[in-house]
Amino acid sequence: MQHDMFAESRSAVRIGPGAMLLGGFASAEARALLAQIPKLGAVSPFRHMTTRNGGRLAVAMFNCGETGWISDRRGYRYQSLDPETGNPWPAMPDLFRSLAGRAAAAAGFAGFSPDACLVNRYDAGTRLSLHQDMDEQDHDAPIVSVSLGLSATFLWGGALRADRPERHRLHHGDVVVWGGPSRMTFHGVDGVERGDHPETGPWRYNLTFRRAQ
Ligand code: SIN
Ligand code: FE2
Repeated sequence: MQHDMFAESRSAVRIGPGAMLLGGFASAEARALLAQIPKLGAVSPFRHMTTRNGGRLAVAMFNCGETGWISDRRGYRYQSLDPETGNPWPAMPDLFRSLAGRAAAAAGFAGFSPDACLVNRYDAGTRLSLHQDMDEQDHDAPIVSVSLGLSATFLWGGALRADRPERHRLHHGDVVVWGGPSRMTFHGVDGVERGDHPETGPWRYNLTFRRAQ
């Protein structure tokens, strides 16, 4: 019993008001989550989206769910059709939705029902600069972010871009949830190291669940 309590206190860390790093929360399901990615990617493939000024996002992405986040020459927004295929994004697997709901509840946000899941793929050296998730209409719902494969460093900043971020190492199966007073916190990703992960080889994947509409 004492051992279990120790393990639990180590695995869940409060990183801010309404923000938790749930260490290993998705470990038991990680393999099943990963097995969905090629199936979803057969409908909406990974791609490097364009930015407003013609740049290329370093992180490769696609979405599943009723709506999906995109970036192009017109800026950032959500839309229900994949611009690459002209078809709806693939449906969100039940396992994804269920995991997101359970992780949100474990962090104090009961009843989270995501309508969008952004699937991100990083290779060694890929960085995601500090940003806020602000294209969603619903800012009451939390963000649930699942790390799979190679480890990375999560940059956890403040309410201002200039706030110096804390650095939290994220490993395979870790889940970060942020909502309430932390919902608009600046965050990013750094430090994906070259590696050969037993489940994902040279990649880090991240599933970001949101209530967008
Ligand atoms: C994101 O902020 O959209 C992704 C975060 C991550 O990859 O851990
Ligand atoms: Fe984000």
